[in-house]
This record gives sequence, structure tokens and C-alpha cells, in this order.
Amino acid sequence: MSKILDVRDLKTYFRTPDGVVKAVDGISFEMMKGEILALVGESGCGKSVTVQTVMGLVKVPPALVEGQILYRDRNLVGMSNKEYRNIRGKEISMIFQEPMSTFDPLFTIGYQLTEVAKAHMEWDDQKTREEIISVLRKVNIPEPEKRYREYPHEMSGGMLQRIMIAMALITNPEIIIADEPTTALDVTIQAQVLNIMRDLQKEFDSSIIFITHDLGVVAELSDRVHVMYAGKIVEKALVSDLYNSPMHPYTRGLLNSRVKREYKGKKLPYVEGYVPRAHEFPKGCRFNPRCPHAMELCREQDPPEISISETHTAACWLYGEDQRL
Ligand SMILES: Nc1ncnc2c1ncn2[C@@H]1O[C@H](COP(=O)(O)OP(=O)(O)OP(=O)(O)O)[C@@H](O)[C@H]1O
Ligand SMILES: [Mg+2]
Repeated sequence: MSKILDVRDLKTYFRTPDGVVKAVDGISFEMMKGEILALVGESGCGKSVTVQTVMGLVKVPPALVEGQILYRDRNLVGMSNKEYRNIRGKEISMIFQEPMSTFDPLFTIGYQLTEVAKAHMEWDDQKTREEIISVLRKVNIPEPEKRYREYPHEMSGGMLQRIMIAMALITNPEIIIADEPTTALDVTIQAQVLNIMRDLQKEFDSSIIFITHDLGVVAELSDRVHVMYAGKIVEKALVSDLYNSPMHPYTRGLLNSRVKREYKGKKLPYVEGYVPRAHEFPKGCRFNPRCPHAMELCREQDPPEISISETHTAACWLYGEDQRL
């Protein structure tokens, strides 16, 4: 498998009245062609900012972006908006959580898909229409010719979500980024959307970055998982390894608390304690105040990424105290 994306030491900082928010703070990861990579972690850990940075959707300045995002040997960090426009939506496209906010209520589905196709593809009107109908059919929209002429409010939530997937696929992108694409949907519709994504991934051989809170969805859909905590990636593993032998105490907490999370209708945090706010991270390992295994060293130094096996890493001193500076 060839490497399609190579993110190196990426940082995305925001200046706010409360101080600098280090939303993404030095993460590195790679993506292979055709793989589904899941990004998981609690709310506020930097998942969305990571993919927004990859998509060039973070405005610099006021934000600060550092590091490298190598896509086909080009560095997307620092690329002009004009150059980005040739990549965003064509080679890398995104599916958002809330389909209602993606579509304009005043225009038909067909019109909106045509706009996307026209922006990136050199098709004539007839070819454009054919391609749109065909991609609508692929995401299981019944009677696509009829739906083409309808407006967003005439669709159910699940149908709109599938049309958003169609919109992301129309240009046959290399990478699709899906930021919690199913959380707003009910469980049966979620399963349908996930099945469609899995089938399409196979058909198009696209690479997918899939963001979710739901570890069940991860197991269902992904090849590999990266666990994020407070702006860092704390564990990288194949899905099977993550479930069978999670290494980072945070990942273990996430997996253990999966069943216990709903208590008397109240949502509990996944792991005891709360994610620190992004402008007041503790010294040393950011997880140390919540970690049952925290040692002196953990309160002093941030652990590096430590290799557990060829396909598994954990940023935790439990696995490599000898690597201290
Ligand atoms: N434009 C911005 N300006 C300032 N802070 C921001 C901005 N965007 C995000 N943040 C902060 O960056 C941190 C990471 O946010 P992000 O949206 O990436 O979290 P997330 O992991 O996607 O969470 P969720 O699961 O809730 O979607 C948060 O503390 C958030 O408040
Ligand atoms: Mg998010």
C-alpha cells in the first residue's frame, strides 16, 4: 500500500482572550491508500481541528499552523487558498456531521451537486447529470431522477446524509474525511450510512479518515485507530490490537467505560475526571491527573511515542521509562 497522506508534527493554535488554545499540539500520522483510519477521543481533544487543518479550513492568521501535511509530495501547510481550492472538494473532500447546514434550502439537490461537479470536473451538462444520478444511486437514493429536482427539506435526515456522501464522492476524491457523520442520526439509519460508506470505500478504493466518539462504530468500519487526548495522539493501533490489547491508560479507560457511560439518563465522562481545557494543560503527560498509573516522571515530562510493535504505539511512560531525556 502506498502512502497517501503524511502529517508531521502538526500544530494548530488559536489565540483567545483566555490565552493560546493548543487545539492540535504536535501530532504525526500517516495514511495509506485505501485504508479507513478512525480518530477517536473525548469532546474537545482536537479531532475536528485536526481534519479542518488538513482541509485548509483553519484561517491563518489569526490561527497559527505549523508542521507539514504532505499530500502527494506537496506540503499543504502554507499553501495559498487558490491552490487549496484545487485540492479541497476534489482530491480531499469532507462529510460533515450536520447535513442541514451543508445544503442551501433554496436550491434543489441536483443544482447543488451540479455546482460541486462543475467547480472541479470538466464534464458537459449531460455528463454531469448522468454522473450525479449515478452517484445518488450508489448511495441508495431511491428514484434519483426525481430526487434530483427536489429540495433539501423534502428529504429525511438519513437521506440528506447519504446525499452529502454523494456530494463528497462526485469528484472521486483520494481522501474522504468524515467528521462524526452519523451522530445526528438514529441507530438504524447510522448502520445504513456506515454500510454505504464501507461499500463505497471498496468500490472507489478511497482512503477515509473517520472521526467518531463511538468505539462500536470504530470496530465496525475501520482498519486502524488513532486515539487523541488533549491535542496529542496517545495511541495508534490496528483495530483488533486496540480492542484486544489497549496500551495507553486513557484508551483502557475509554474501552472500560463504554458500557457504563449512561447512568440514570446522565452522560458520564468516559474516564474519571475531565479533559483539561486546551490553554491550561498540566505539565508532563497531559493525562497524568486522571491516570491511575501516574508516576513522578509522568508529572515532569511529556512521554514520546513509544513503539509497542510494528503497528502499535503508545505515548506513555509505562512502556519506556528508559526513553526519558
Ligand atoms: N476557532 C477556534 N478558536 C478557538 N478555539 C477553538 C477553535 N476551534 C476549536 N477550538 C478549541 O480547540 C479544542 C479542540 O476542538 P475540536 O473541535 O477539535 O474538538 P473535537 O475533538 O472535535 O471535539 P468534539 O468531539 O466535541 O467534536 C477545543 O478546546 C475547542 O474549544
Ligand atoms: Mg469535533
